[in-house]
Amino acid sequence: MANLTSEISKRRTFAIISHPDAGKTTLTEKLLLFGGAIHVAGAVKSNKIRKTATSDWMEIEKQRGISVATSVMGFNYGDYKINILDTPGHQDFAEDTYRTLTAVDSVIIVVDVAKGVEQQTRKLMEVCRMRNTPVIIFVNKLDREGRDPFDILDELESELKINVRPLSWPINIGAKFKGVYNIYEHGLDLFQPDKQKVTERVEIKDLNDPLVNETIGETDANKLREDLELVEGVYPEFDVNTYLDGKVAPVFFGSALNTFGVKELLDCFVRIAPSPRPIQAEERLVKPEEEAFSGFVFKIHANMDPNHRSCIAFVKVCSGVFRRNANYKHMRSGKLMKFSAPTAFMAQKKDVVDEAYPGDIIGIPDTGNFKIGDTLTEGEDLHYKGLPSFSPEMFKYIENSDPMKTKQLNKGVEQLMDEGVAQLFINQFNGRKIIGTVGQLQFEVIQYRLLHEYGAQCRWEPLRLYKACWIESDDEAALKAFKTRKHQFMAVDRDGRDVFLADSGYVLQMAQSDFPKIKFHFTSEF
Ligand code: G4P
Repeated sequence: MANLTSEISKRRTFAIISHPDAGKTTLTEKLLLFGGAIHVAGAVKSNKIRKTATSDWMEIEKQRGISVATSVMGFNYGDYKINILDTPGHQDFAEDTYRTLTAVDSVIIVVDVAKGVEQQTRKLMEVCRMRNTPVIIFVNKLDREGRDPFDILDELESELKINVRPLSWPINIGAKFKGVYNIYEHGLDLFQPDKQKVTERVEIKDLNDPLVNETIGETDANKLREDLELVEGVYPEFDVNTYLDGKVAPVFFGSALNTFGVKELLDCFVRIAPSPRPIQAEERLVKPEEEAFSGFVFKIHANMDPNHRSCIAFVKVCSGVFRRNANYKHMRSGKLMKFSAPTAFMAQKKDVVDEAYPGDIIGIPDTGNFKIGDTLTEGEDLHYKGLPSFSPEMFKYIENSDPMKTKQLNKGVEQLMDEGVAQLFINQFNGRKIIGTVGQLQFEVIQYRLLHEYGAQCRWEPLRLYKACWIESDDEAALKAFKTRKHQFMAVDRDGRDVFLADSGYVLQMAQSDFPKIKFHFTSEF
């Protein structure tokens, strides 16, 4: 038991999220460098799908191969066991990122100092807010010209809708960038552009220490003191518990490419970021230190080899100790299952593991038993709540192009939906299948995979829809009236829930005002 508690308190399981190009890959790599998981910069090939590759599915396929290895990067740092969960950079795979966020205990957000808060960061932050995930923000690329730090902080607060608290402060930006004052540890970190080396720290008593003027010059020292006075006046003292509640985000400044500010970020992160915390299952709150193992599947990764239709299910351990070859109950099927080759992810290697602790992610080879959100336990009936599905952005009818392969197509579509590649709705008016995605790329992925993994051919028929909204009402008659009036636009999702397909924002607005007794939901959980 003591062992379990100490293993839990060592674990830091988190994701780095950002808008593409803000520096997520670079920061990840530098963190691995500090953890000794890699030895030279450039060793992590990101799983980011290059922007140019939108229509080049083969390229994506290649990159997907790499991404299995980098899906979870575990390493030790001091006494801590760190698990970084990678998230796809391409926005068409945003759903994957949302789901990964269900498996992390905290998040680091990377923001480009010149660009500020960008669209994808905003959306990802919404997901963090829904779950009160603690967030640390790293403002990156201080070696480049960028915005005034106070402006950036204001924008972070207003755009990400979270209070911020700087824990480091930059001394100039761009060509004149000299380093940061580490508010959290009261040190002056001097900038030396270098892709491999670590920051040089000047220990100072306080900002009036003559060393400050000596090292950065009087003008910058005065400016720093003024800025800091303002910081202390404007932002309340940093409080770890408010951070842990997801109500304030500490902010660090640095340059990932130059390995500057990264160690400071990591050192603070391991101290303040949460170890695995209790998780609310449908039935009850489950504490990580409970003896019985439980966990859930948050991601399914299809195999590269189309001849073996196997995949890896990623399971987050939520409580107890996971043991290889033990019998676990797969809640959805009620079956007992044993896993002989679960893998852990250390550095970029996958190794078979005998045991895993809360906070750890294990990869389980699977041949289609698992679905995203599935819970495994030692026998108790528990269901972890996943993340709700969001209304897709794009919709198409899926049609069978090869009547001889109907069975294969149906099976393929079902399994790809289990993997969470996209969402399926059945139009109640014409019985046709509608696939909803976040971006065009997913349609290509589905078509390609149906052909190569299931031997089925599909074609897409355009469908102009604005949103799919889950609807409900306490008033049966009102619900019936709505469904009758909108019968051409009614569908059901895979769980049989009613979904209204609104073909324009205007139509949706009208429906909302004409049917006040109907509740319209933009996520599947309500
Ligand atoms: P992402 O995963 O968030 O998409 O971003 P990534 O780390 O790939 O970084 C995007 C670009 O920004 C890269 O340049 C990277 O080198 C650069 N970058 C990251 N951190 C810093 C920084 O602190 N300062 C500066 N000046 N640049 C930074 P690229 O030219 O797009 O790619 P590459 O050819 O260098 O890999």
